[in-house]
Amino acid sequence: MTEARKDEKPLEFRQEHLLGLEYLSREEIECVLHNAAALKPTLDQKIKKMPTLLGKTVVNLFFENSTRTRTSFEIAAKRLSADVINFTVGTSSVAKGESLLDTARTIEALGSDIIIMRHSCPGACHLLASHLRSAIINAGDGCHEHPTQGLLDMFTMRERKGRIEGLTVTILGDILHSRVARSNIWGLTKLGANVRVCGPRTLIPRGIEELGVEVFYDLEQGIRDADVINILRIQRERMDSNMFPSIREYRLLYGLTHDRLRFAKPDVLIMHPGPINRGIEISQGVADGEHSVINQQVTNGVAVRMAVLYLLGQARAQKIEMEKAE
Ligand code: CP
Repeated sequence: MTEARKDEKPLEFRQEHLLGLEYLSREEIECVLHNAAALKPTLDQKIKKMPTLLGKTVVNLFFENSTRTRTSFEIAAKRLSADVINFTVGTSSVAKGESLLDTARTIEALGSDIIIMRHSCPGACHLLASHLRSAIINAGDGCHEHPTQGLLDMFTMRERKGRIEGLTVTILGDILHSRVARSNIWGLTKLGANVRVCGPRTLIPRGIEELGVEVFYDLEQGIRDADVINILRIQRERMDSNMFPSIREYRLLYGLTHDRLRFAKPDVLIMHPGPINRGIEISQGVADGEHSVINQQVTNGVAVRMAVLYLLGQARAQKIEMEKAE
């Protein structure tokens, strides 16, 4: 699937794991997006399954709740004919005190090839990657990164706008606690977008400008002439104390309403990684309105995750072949 595009050399993906978009080159991000575009039409075929990962075992290891990411990875892996195990932390021996590493080593001893992990601790997936032979995919590690969300967001932007380079993308809301914001920032800046972050001072990390973004505390200025607004949920579950006076005040200052859309470009795309808190960060009308591509993001997530599983599966197969040859 990584065949040459018109008159161009094939894109290469050299990673054994997907831990964050910080660690991917522009070419590797392009490679995932290219493969996702090739795979997307298979989602509408009568027979949706491909034999790519036949005989391989993919484990969903989620220590935090998820609707979209876990289900999307399960569908993507099944489309590629992998055996999929959904590990349920609540009924596992984690409740008896088993460590993360011992849990993961046990899963690998049971035969995993690819482990997809979500964990509240930033860097937890790096720990697995440095101790296991399975390919590790980060499905969200605390406030650090959520690389497949960043990739599916970029895929959706390119699908709808035809490009990423030169787009003005505003990430609006709780930037401080958002792994989606960080993965978007790493990916979009590598692909040449103009990235802005906008939200209350208390929800914007200090020094974020060093990642190549512009910072706005005023919504009207932050979304002015934006091509894309990616709206984030307030992550109250990650806050030790109140970081703004009230939900009502937050909604008044930063809630995206139909009226406020007039500051952005007329064809602005409205994105949200979900889950949505309707009536807080986004109004009902904007969430379901003509500019919203929120459901397309979810659909595209399957194609993007199929591409990631395919590329990591291929890299792992090559590594095993090389080790056998040595
Ligand atoms: N966007 C996202 O990560 O959603 P879930 O928490 O439902 O997986």
